[in-house]
Amino acid sequence: MRGQWILGFAIIMGIVKGVAGFAQAPQEADVMLAQESAMTTGEQGSKQRIKALVFDAYGTLFNPYTAQTVSEELFPGRGSELVRLWRAKQLEYTWLRSLMGRYSDFWEVTRAALEFSCRALNLSCTSSIYERLMQTYLEIEPYPEIRQALQELSSDYPLAILSNGTPEMLQAAVKSSKLEGVFSHLLSVDEVKIFKTSPRVYQLAPEKIGVGRGEIAFVSSNYWDAVGAKAFGFWTCWVNRSNAPPEELGLSPDATVSSISDLAKVLPH
Ligand code: LAC
Repeated sequence: MRGQWILGFAIIMGIVKGVAGFAQAPQEADVMLAQESAMTTGEQGSKQRIKALVFDAYGTLFNPYTAQTVSEELFPGRGSELVRLWRAKQLEYTWLRSLMGRYSDFWEVTRAALEFSCRALNLSCTSSIYERLMQTYLEIEPYPEIRQALQELSSDYPLAILSNGTPEMLQAAVKSSKLEGVFSHLLSVDEVKIFKTSPRVYQLAPEKIGVGRGEIAFVSSNYWDAVGAKAFGFWTCWVNRSNAPPEELGLSPDATVSSISDLAKVLPH
């Protein structure tokens, strides 16, 4: 009896799903197809072919806490507190500005977040201190495994960056990390004047790289960014460097690694 009920329910759901799928706009249908195929690849063994790897920048390739040493020299005992609040406010401002429809580029947002954080922590920051701390974004440190891991991955896939950072910030980061020539594309949200997790941002990758959204593996250490990309239709990998708990955002990345050195092992082929 229970078995018959389940069978009947499954048939009805199948019909409903079929009709709903038929009525969908092509773009939504594309997203669903990409998501379904990304979700089932592991189970079926017929893994979807990934054609390009797209990386988030800050937190994933480059350490947004590079300023920690300078900050600690300037404000002994408070350096860590400052860089943590600075990063949190930087991200919060990107989300708020996107919701308000008041884009201001990532350099300006980063500077505004720094000014607020200094004030909130009662640290006396002069304009030369602001300059010194902002400069760390142009001399940002890559995570230790990055150079070798990307070198290896680049023999199998084109690599790109898709980031909130301005083109100038991304070029400086690539240069200071000695990663010139590794990426086929440095894609900045500045082109669409809205921040992650707007689908308009993720759309830049298939558009500029020239592959389908389901053929892109998107890699981010920011959980919210990984699931933003997943919602768009990419296969996604979360780089969980600090053994953090997953966020509750209603979606999960397709894979999780603790370092980019392990990415090749989890990519669907
Ligand atoms: C970026 C932010 C998320 O690089 O750190 O886009």
